[in-house]
Amino acid sequence: MIGSGRSDFHATITGLGAHVPERVITNDELSKLVETSNEWIVERTGIRERRIAADSEALSDLALPAARQALEQAGIEGRDVDLLIVATVTPDMMFPSTAAILADQLGAAEAAAYDLSAGCTGFMYALAQAYGMVAGGLSRRALVVGGDVLSRVLDWSDRSTVVLFGDGAGAVVIEPSEAAGFFAFELGADGAGGEHLWLPGSGSRTFEEPEKFVKMNGREVFKFATRILVQSGEAVLDRCGTRVEDVDLYVPHQANVRIIDHATKKLGIPSERVVINVDRYGNTSSGSIPLALSEAQADGRLRTGSLVLMTGMGAGLTWGSALMRWTRAEAA
Ligand SMILES: CC(C)(COP(=O)(O)OP(=O)(O)OC[C@H]1O[C@@H](n2cnc3c(N)ncnc32)[C@H](O)[C@@H]1OP(=O)(O)O)[C@@H](O)C(=O)NCCC(=O)NCCS
Repeated sequence: MIGSGRSDFHATITGLGAHVPERVITNDELSKLVETSNEWIVERTGIRERRIAADSEALSDLALPAARQALEQAGIEGRDVDLLIVATVTPDMMFPSTAAILADQLGAAEAAAYDLSAGCTGFMYALAQAYGMVAGGLSRRALVVGGDVLSRVLDWSDRSTVVLFGDGAGAVVIEPSEAAGFFAFELGADGAGGEHLWLPGSGSRTFEEPEKFVKMNGREVFKFATRILVQSGEAVLDRCGTRVEDVDLYVPHQANVRIIDHATKKLGIPSERVVINVDRYGNTSSGSIPLALSEAQADGRLRTGSLVLMTGMGAGLTWGSALMRWTRAEAA
């Protein structure tokens, strides 16, 4: 599914924030838990370290500081938010939603609040949904959070998954604006590939041998990821009639440096325009894109006027891209 923003209406990101847990786990530390090595992980993934939540930290504990930062940047209070979407596959609990918990913590008493599940693509789905609600007049100030504490659902004896993921969250405020803002979105899902990256035994389906941990067919996901980052990115650019040369900043889902490098080359985006932080955070699922945006804002690469292409992909299998112009002023 692909769609352009309403031509008679503009909405944009007015505030951005991110937060990661303090605890760093290096590849060397992981190699004491499972049979792996720093060399293998760096060569195959580009990941050097990741952040892991403390036992006492749940998703809302990571989301709250990220959300506060985004609200502060937007110059608004929690009570001004009328829509709060948390994209995650690791909510604090199945219900109440983490969004409802967060709304209470932020004093967003008037906000509709719910969680959204689209694997690592959750943040992109939530962005599109918030845009749609703001454009449709259902919301005036939306807070979108993407975040996960995947460390809770990893099998810490499985070397094929444990090296890839980390914990983190990011948040953005979306409001109507004078100028775009968002131009178009492209979202999709292929449930036939669901078994390649899944958490069976986590819902109402009964399995003979319930599996409480993430299971992944790395090679299949790799093939999917390299294909879809290119396809989805090109689709949204085509829709907007925009040339890849005009993209100032490419913010792909941070899963693996090899996947990002492949997509970047195929799309024809010069490496200096690509945001990569997977080396320090691993794959933070729905936290990955806002976390990368936040870093790019902090280091001055994301500026007012930058044309930004973002693409997420993950469990589902799902994917989602957005093309937008960054309209807010640089971070204070
Ligand atoms: C997981 C991934 C890094 C593996 O890299 P790869 O180059 O495809 O490696 P392979 O799967 O071919 O495995 C090569 C060997 O390394 C081994 N291996 C797997 N994980 C390992 C680890 N952490 N340390 C050392 N060896 C490991 C495998 O067992 C395999 O051994 P074998 O040949 O004896 O069977 C890669 O497939 C990948 O990144 N896939 C996408 C995963 C992803 O991004 N998921 C989230 C999407 S949102």
